Amino acid sequence: MPTNDIDAAVSALLAGRLVAIPTETVYGLAADATNTAAVASIFAAKHRPRFNPLICHVASAADAASFAILNDTAKQLTDAFWPGALTLVLPLRTDANISDLVTAGLDTVAVRVPAHPVALQVLQAVGRPLAAPSANRSGRVSPTTLEHVQFEFTPDVAMGLDGGPSQLGLESTIVDATQDRVRMLRLGSVTREAIEESLGEPLALVEPGKQPIQAPGQLQSHYAPSAQLRLNVRHPKPHEALLAFGCEVPAHAGPMANLSEAGDVTEAARNLFSALRTLDTTGASTIAVMPIPEKGLGEAINDRLRRAAAPRP
Ligand code: TXA
Ligand code: MG
Repeated sequence: MPTNDIDAAVSALLAGRLVAIPTETVYGLAADATNTAAVASIFAAKHRPRFNPLICHVASAADAASFAILNDTAKQLTDAFWPGALTLVLPLRTDANISDLVTAGLDTVAVRVPAHPVALQVLQAVGRPLAAPSANRSGRVSPTTLEHVQFEFTPDVAMGLDGGPSQLGLESTIVDATQDRVRMLRLGSVTREAIEESLGEPLALVEPGKQPIQAPGQLQSHYAPSAQLRLNVRHPKPHEALLAFGCEVPAHAGPMANLSEAGDVTEAARNLFSALRTLDTTGASTIAVMPIPEKGLGEAINDRLRRAAAPRP
């Protein structure tokens, strides 16, 4: 990555423009979180409903503390998981310099420190929080390469930094850390088990329909390719594309992608969005998905697949 690309990205961000940045989870469409006009252009580019708040990305937990309040439990989580794929929803400080559009007017803010070196370099150089949703049009499959981003947005909408394929491939896990008892809001790249082990207690459950906010990432239909999805398929039909998992793959003449021949859920998570995009480009009207175990990262993979398969609005 030539340094001047990062310099150009930093100048663009400080001038209120959008920049697609690589992170270890998925590529983000970043804007200066303190600049309302810049943040507004994220919503416009993504066709994202304005009631859906954005994640603020910062270079360190100390930077997060300048606009969010971290209690002891939150600090324990940042010590254990930052930089990394855990997003904390925290109380917003009353003196915070964050655009109301970022938080959708809530008194909480979602924050994470990404683990990608390019993202960290940009954040350090910008010296301000960057609001960055996944760099896809709202409701669609998240991008894990710069090519995916360029398929979603033309360069006049956002310049992009290439940081290679996202290592994890699934969005961050989001927890509500506003209270002592932490609650799971969105499954993601950090497993429930890892968080529970770090906290030494189970995460509180959020009752369905009692989410603090209704956000697309938590809406039933999301992460959707153009093709329909059929889940837990052991016998794909000839006209279907097959999203396989493991080494025992049924004979299939049509298009096929295997998430992990070794049956490894970490590898499968990394390949999921990219494989959905590849199978979508074959023009198949349905993608049949083999069963994926509901353990570890399998829980988050199945969450994304169920939303991708849900009836579309
Ligand atoms: O891995 C990721 O998290 C990626 C990369 C780019 O960091 N970002 C990402 O952002 O997935 P996005 O906008 O696609 O998803 C952010 C989610 C949304 O579901 C939003 O509703 C939720 O975070 N969120 C943001 N602020 C919140 C808040 N104050 N309370 C509850 N949920 C919030
Ligand atoms: Mg998203």
